[in-house]
Formats: sequence, C-alpha cells, structure tokens
Amino acid sequence: MSPKKTVFLTGASRGIGKAIYTKLKKEKYYIIAPTRRELDLNNPISLYRYNDIQKNLKVDVLINNAGINFPQWIDELEDKNISETLQINLISPIKLIRTFVPHMKKQRWGRIVNISSMFGLVARGKQTMYTVTKHGINGVTKALALELGPHNILVNSVCPGFVNTDLVKRNPPEKIAALVKDVPLGRLAEPEEIAELVSFLISNKNTYITGANILIDGGFTCR
Ligand SMILES: NC(=O)c1ccc[n+]([C@@H]2O[C@H](COP(=O)([O-])OP(=O)(O)OC[C@H]3O[C@@H](n4cnc5c(N)ncnc54)[C@H](OP(=O)(O)O)[C@@H]3O)[C@@H](O)[C@H]2O)c1
Repeated sequence: MSPKKTVFLTGASRGIGKAIYTKLKKEKYYIIAPTRRELDLNNPISLYRYNDIQKNLKVDVLINNAGINFPQWIDELEDKNISETLQINLISPIKLIRTFVPHMKKQRWGRIVNISSMFGLVARGKQTMYTVTKHGINGVTKALALELGPHNILVNSVCPGFVNTDLVKRNPPEKIAALVKDVPLGRLAEPEEIAELVSFLISNKNTYITGANILIDGGFTCR
C-alpha cells in the first residue's frame, strides 16, 4: 500500500465511518473527511459548492459511507423521508463518484467502496426507502464495475448486518436483543470489523474483487 494515497470518506464523525477513519489513519492514508457542516449530503447546493471549491482534489479512493434510515410503514411514509433518504444514500454518493472518477481514470488506478447494507440484498418491512437506496447503490456498484474496470478502477459495496452504532443503538434494548437472537454469531458487528473489510478492499492486496456486494452480517441473511 502506498502511504500517500488520498481517501475521501463521508460520515466519519461516528459509527462505521469513524472506525474506517481510525483504521486508515493508522495505515498512513491521507484522509479527507468533511463534516456535515462542510458538506451536507442532503443539500444538492452544498454538494455543488463543495465540488466547485474542491474540484482540483486528486482523490484515489472514495468511500461513500454516510447514510440514514428512518423506518416508516408505507402508508405513513413522509415525502421528506423519501427525498432525504434518496438524496443522502443514493444521489449524493453517485455525484461524488462522478466528481472523483476523472482523476482515477487519468492515473489508471482507483478504488470506490460504497457502504451499503444487507438490506441492499434482502428486504424488511417498514424499511422501503432504506431498502430502495441500498439496492440502488448495489446496482451502481455493479454498473460502475463494468464501466470502470477497463480503467483499473475497482468498485465494491460492503453490506453489513446489524452494527453496534447509533443507527442500531437508538432502538430499545429489548428490540436489539430480539435482532441479535436471529444472528447466528449471536451479537452485533463492531464498526471495526467493517473497517477491516474496507481496508482490504481499497488496498493493493485487492487485485480482482470488483462489482461485488459483500455481505458482512454474521450469517443473518442465511435463514
Ligand atoms: N449500523 C448498522 O447497523 C448498519 C448496517 C448496515 C449498513 N449501515 C450503513 O453504514 C453507514 C454508516 O452507518 P452508521 O451505523 O455508522 O451510522 P451513524 O452512526 O448513524 O452515522 C451516520 C454518519 O453519516 C453522517 N451523515 C448523516 N446525514 C448526513 C448528511 N446529510 N450529510 C453529511 N453526513 C451525514 C453522520 O454525520 P453527523 O454526525 O453529522 O450526523 C454520521 O457521520 C450507512 O450508510 C448505513 O446505512 C449501517
């Protein structure tokens, strides 16, 4: 691994993103990790302005990690939930890829990792928008693996199960206990376990995995 590679990482303030940040920092990557105040992924103008200011950034590795999930039954689904989940989980990641791919193409090396979810591969009630966006980003991963493979840019999705972050911990303890009961490994994943996989995927050790939607769910989706 070249210690000089530049990584662009979203959602590094907490949870999985923070664990990825910590791991990659130890591995001597140069990391650009804008806070929500610097780059609000829910705001197309913020993204446009940020891109304009940063258009000369030479990013070798893009990790689209930031994401939201507001579970609502379909008959109570608010317009705000539809637009925000689409914007943050799907549209902004696509636009960030569009921004950084030209440099990757030019240097004939790039790595893109989208933090998706097991709900990019299976579904769950009350999770329509989350499921839509995570299936969507898995589709983006496959389409771009085809498009960018000839440029030596590898594109993958990491699809975690239940991870020990705010996204899960906001549930009452009895709900978390019920979720864990259905996980063959009998526990939540720790964010550091997700970071380990991301670190491998973006490294030079990954020479042939592209277009993959990789489950890391403790076996949850096997049943
Ligand atoms: N936790 C799980 O069980 C789980 C399972 C499967 C997949 N995932 C996926 O993993 C990724 C990270 O999840 P997590 O559990 O680490 O989530 P988290 O602890 O809730 O953290 C979410 C991160 O996204 C950022 N973010 C949210 N809205 C943003 C916006 N409008 N603009 C910029 N940044 C924004 C947050 O920034 P602030 O600190 O400013 O809010 C935070 O850094 C997500 O894509 C999620 O879907 C999580």
